[in-house]
Amino acid sequence: MKLRIAVYPGSFDPFTYGHLDIIDRAAQIFDQVIVAVSVNSGKNPLFTIEERVAMIAKECTHLKNVEVDCFYGLLVDFACQKKARVIIRGLRAVSDFEYEFQMALTNRKLNPNLDTIFLVSQPKYSFLSSSIVKEIASLGGNVTGFVSPGVAAWLSAKFTNKKPEV
Ligand code: PNS
Repeated sequence: MKLRIAVYPGSFDPFTYGHLDIIDRAAQIFDQVIVAVSVNSGKNPLFTIEERVAMIAKECTHLKNVEVDCFYGLLVDFACQKKARVIIRGLRAVSDFEYEFQMALTNRKLNPNLDTIFLVSQPKYSFLSSSIVKEIASLGGNVTGFVSPGVAAWLSAKFTNKKPEV
């Protein structure tokens, strides 16, 4: 039997129910799913790498074949190091496609042994993005239904400069 390891990379700043849905489904398809938080995604993140890894690990405790890690540098190198043959990405809408298409082709050019597999978001999460969640939270809005209560507490703590109780 082939051991099928898939990497699910992203910024996860913060981790939303949309991300969790993709991981849940990927965990049913692959033997092992490695959620990979990018250290150098070129954005100015709200949460540190350690916070994001801890946040995701807590949300995925029920999924025994899922591990959470972070990576510096190229995704293809991380995938290779983890012996993964597949990159998982979620597709929410047509607007995601161009960027995802470019990334998938680039990664395949960098490592022809790696394939990207897209899981289409459930319609109830197709509007959801980490940036929108951050904006709502920063303005004191209610993020219930977008992120877990734990992540909502992290957000609220960030925007009120308190440390969350986790
Ligand atoms: O959640 P995001 O921000 O859309 O995730 C983007 C991410 C982290 C998957 C992408 O930026 C990435 O893979 N960064 C690592 C650097 C890399 O490998 N770049 C070349 C491939 S395009």
